[in-house]
Amino acid sequence: MALRRKLIAGNWKLHKTVEESLELAGQLSAGLKRDDLDVLVCPTFPALFPVAQRLKGTAVKVGAQNLFWEDQGAFTGEVSGPMIKAAGAIYALVGHSERRLHFAESEKTAALRVAAAWRSGLTPILCVGELLQERETGRMEGVLESQLAGALAGVSTAQAGGLVIAYEPVWAIGTGKTASDAQANEAHAYIRGWLSYRFDKHVAESLKILYGGSVKPANAAGLLNQSEVDGVLVGGASLDASSFLGIIHAI
Ligand code: 13P
Repeated sequence: MALRRKLIAGNWKLHKTVEESLELAGQLSAGLKRDDLDVLVCPTFPALFPVAQRLKGTAVKVGAQNLFWEDQGAFTGEVSGPMIKAAGAIYALVGHSERRLHFAESEKTAALRVAAAWRSGLTPILCVGELLQERETGRMEGVLESQLAGALAGVSTAQAGGLVIAYEPVWAIGTGKTASDAQANEAHAYIRGWLSYRFDKHVAESLKILYGGSVKPANAAGLLNQSEVDGVLVGGASLDASSFLGIIHAI
């Protein structure tokens, strides 16, 4: 089995002013005691540049929570890949379920954002995941397949190896209900199998699949020890340095 370095990512969502973001970034870089895994934080857009400056030369990397698919132009309110890259980020989340829910994002727009991320030299972290009702009616695999197929429609096999996928079951986000270790592993195995079929075995074995949804210091080790779980994407528990560091140091 390919050795995949773990990635522990924090999605700060709509939280923290620039000053608060800088404080948290400083606490994280000061408290990080290991260099055998990758650590990433995704602040709000106003905090992206200052946080990237603060973290320069440390092991903590920076990502954006979203990006627009055009590089520039008359698109009021949007932020593009080249701007995000120039601000010091190296990753961008794409297709988070909150974007799908509140901002009508679709597989089609996710595909445009994935393409824009590659073009700008950013690694896309494509988020997929089913609703509770979809899981309960046996449609989890079909939902994951259509989200993956739609968002990765334009991705070549050569590009695919550098992707990151985040499996975030919507019913586990911000609810305190985590997928069990086995449920997470099973969904990740399905995603990896699909990637092997769509691209090839080498791509499927090399790319990282993160789990997201109510990850806390207390449940992180169980999830991170699963063979198919290559890291976690943390919301609420990434807003506090000691809990995010607790997750990073859990295994
Ligand atoms: P919570 O960890 O707050 O459930 O959020 C997960 C998430 O959506 C990360 O992107």
